[in-house]
Amino acid sequence: MNARNVEASGSPYPSRRAVSLFWPRRFAQHPSDALEGGEGALLGQWLEERATACRVVKAKAKITVVRTVKAVHPVAQQIAENLAAIDAIRFVKMSLELLRASSEVSEGRLKTPVTKPGHPTAIGVSLIFHAAYKTVQFYEITSATKGYGSKMVDAVLRALPEGWSGVVVMDWSDGFWKRMSEKYENLEVV
Ligand SMILES: CC(C)(COP(=O)(O)OP(=O)(O)OC[C@H]1O[C@@H](n2cnc3c(N)ncnc32)[C@H](O)[C@@H]1OP(=O)(O)O)[C@@H](O)C(=O)NCCC(=O)NCCS
Repeated sequence: MNARNVEASGSPYPSRRAVSLFWPRRFAQHPSDALEGGEGALLGQWLEERATACRVVKAKAKITVVRTVKAVHPVAQQIAENLAAIDAIRFVKMSLELLRASSEVSEGRLKTPVTKPGHPTAIGVSLIFHAAYKTVQFYEITSATKGYGSKMVDAVLRALPEGWSGVVVMDWSDGFWKRMSEKYENLEVV
């Protein structure tokens, strides 16, 4: 609603007519009628449906598998799904040995998830997947918003079956990986 409308109606809320335009036809009653009748149920149901729709949209962070990969390893698939379920993560890209997830992708044709350490806005992680050694190496991680570093680590380590481990070869984090290795038994900081 723009400033002119507010001035005209004297109310910051959309008019009854404006609400009617967007009110789903299958609910015969107008929302305000339902509330006036003492039943907030219809409005509640509609709001719940909208909320569910938003949750479903989020669960579909885009997971891309490069064409050269014939079959995705089930552990890599689980890691990808766990990362895609993090609210900030919007893109997951998998190749044979590399799995990258991020809130942002690079510009241009390749659209690579951004995981560069210290990036000013991105939240992302880059992993090297070694099925033969049952290890997943944390190659790059960055978190412009506090709290997401550990969410990404948890998403990866939670996906690993018995006998697998997460590995950090280069620790430039000044304490983050030490904290994570105290928390997770299946994480090795070399
Ligand atoms: C390292 C990084 C990914 C951590 O992400 P984050 O979202 O800030 O981490 P979290 O908030 O999830 O922290 C998880 C835990 O680690 C601790 N932690 C985070 N950074 C820490 C640090 N530098 N020193 C000590 N503890 C640290 C937090 O206090 C928290 O502890 P808790 O579980 O007791 O609450 C982020 O700071 C970053 O992007 N840094 C720049 C890039 C970088 O250094 N990448 C790693 C290269 S090896």
